Amino acid sequence: MKVLLQLVQGFRLFLRRLHDALAPPELVATEHMTGFWRAAALGAATNLKVADHLSGKLDGMSVQELALHCGADPNRLRRLLTALASIGFFQVKGERVFHTRLSACLSAGSTTPEGSGQIGKAVEFQYRVQWKNWNELAGVIKTGLTSSALRRGLEASDPEAGRHCLFREMDGSAQEQNLFHGAMESVTELSKGPLAQAFPWEQFSSIVDLGGGSGAFLSHLHTRFPQSRKTVIDRPDAFRDIDDKSGIFFQEGDFFNLAEAKSQEVLAVADLVVLKHILHDWSDEDSLRILKQIHAQISDNATLVVIETLSGEMEGDLIASFADLEMMHSFQAKERSLEDFQQLFESSGFRLTQSVVTLSPFRVLVCEKKQ
Ligand SMILES: C[S@@+](CC[C@H](N)C(=O)[O-])C[C@H]1O[C@@H](n2cnc3c(N)ncnc32)[C@H](O)[C@@H]1O
Repeated sequence: MKVLLQLVQGFRLFLRRLHDALAPPELVATEHMTGFWRAAALGAATNLKVADHLSGKLDGMSVQELALHCGADPNRLRRLLTALASIGFFQVKGERVFHTRLSACLSAGSTTPEGSGQIGKAVEFQYRVQWKNWNELAGVIKTGLTSSALRRGLEASDPEAGRHCLFREMDGSAQEQNLFHGAMESVTELSKGPLAQAFPWEQFSSIVDLGGGSGAFLSHLHTRFPQSRKTVIDRPDAFRDIDDKSGIFFQEGDFFNLAEAKSQEVLAVADLVVLKHILHDWSDEDSLRILKQIHAQISDNATLVVIETLSGEMEGDLIASFADLEMMHSFQAKERSLEDFQQLFESSGFRLTQSVVTLSPFRVLVCEKKQ
């Protein structure tokens, strides 16, 4: 299946290039220029919880009934669904609306044979939070500031400007923080199976996930390898809605200040520290600060695992290239190549011992302390 998918993806890239070479360039530009229409329509459907209301309804629902559940105007809802049906999400047949394979993954409780699902949370985060940041992209590229700094009217000379990132901005909104953590859970949901298989997690007795959010990744590991003690260290907003029956420990902490007593205590006995999807949110300077903080607190034979997507790995990979822009406008940060990570590790006292390719967009980078 995986091989077939890779073949189809290669073929799709080839066809896209062939199309772009033959079609009038204005047509190609128009298709790209309207990309945000599709994102907005998906976001609106997620916001209205269309997929959740349709979930499990094998005979579909009438537009009227669905509109009632969504609190929407039936005619306008039909127009939204007709547009989405043109890209494969939902099917509208006469008066009835049905799920398709694609639209089903938008519902909150969805699971698919691939083990993915819950992407609706990420769709909603993009629609309601990231939208406004993408809108500032030209200014971000001109000034070197983040979108949120620009919206606050900060100037490059202002010392506040360099520190003003999406995390800071979301501090003012519990709703946006919840959407953010929900989106992170979606990404974990898509990759947790392959990541659990890619590394011998069972060989460790005390695992700390720094910036581990609401604990989705550690919870998954705990279902497969329950024998180890597992702790998430993160900001308090990450734990707001957690299910404390997950069997893992949550501890408030700041990865820029791991000398704080409680973090120190947990890290001193950890034999494995995980940084999953963290360093791409930070500049080289801040990433080095985080890595050096970890280096100072863990024992000499502890292992550090960094889980990230690597830039420059796959030609024509739109998501990877555009994720780099998202890191730029939201965090003044970037996606990195393997060589970039190697340099960060070397400069912070670590040595990369293994780079494990996984059946997910993520690479598992295994490091030890240089002795
Ligand atoms: C991109 S998310 C990744 C979450 C999780 N590791 C995952 O892979 O889904 C970044 C995480 O870093 C956390 N974070 C941001 N600043 C932090 C800090 N100074 N100390 C600890 N955690 C922080 C955020 O709350 C968030 O959970």
